[in-house]
Amino acid sequence: MNPIASTCAVSVAVFATLVFTGPASPVALATQPEALPTLSEHMGEMSDAFRTISRGYNKADKLDDVLDAIGKLQENIVVSKSMVPSRLSDLSGEELEASLTEYRVRMAKLLDRTAELEVALLTGDDDLAHMILRDELYPMRDEGHELFSD
Ligand code: HEM
Repeated sequence: MNPIASTCAVSVAVFATLVFTGPASPVALATQPEALPTLSEHMGEMSDAFRTISRGYNKADKLDDVLDAIGKLQENIVVSKSMVPSRLSDLSGEELEASLTEYRVRMAKLLDRTAELEVALLTGDDDLAHMILRDELYPMRDEGHELFSD
């Protein structure tokens, strides 16, 4: 592209950006975006949800609360699985890649088991719900922490 054409292209791009996005308003400038929650904070949310689930999963009058808590747990797992545990911060290269993959696989499996728990509760399969919670979710949490938390 010749220099004049390229200068024109830049001017058009700047003009289009200003027209379509407009100048930043004083309100937008004054409002700083909030810091995103850390992995530790997401885990804290997961912990609250998990407590609600384990206390109420076998009580019929708590079903709605427990289903809401399963949704909260799942939302936080989805965000957490793409984050980096602070214990891995010293790693790099292939070692980091391998650890992140292992972490993500465990989080994805956790998500999968929470969906199975949801199905068990929705279909009234109390024995299956009990088994998933005690024999799968608790051990998954504990093993995850042994491997990845400080
Ligand atoms: C239902 C399952 C789980 C619950 C309720 C849970 C809960 C928690 C809690 C309460 C903390 C401490 C947060 C704080 O105050 O700093 C924590 C930290 C942590 N958990 Fe979990 N966790 C679960 C599953 C897992 C799994 C499966 C993994 C890994 C595969 C994992 C990895 C971690 C890591 C890496 C931290 C430290 C956060 C950091 O690096 O900053 N957790 N979790």
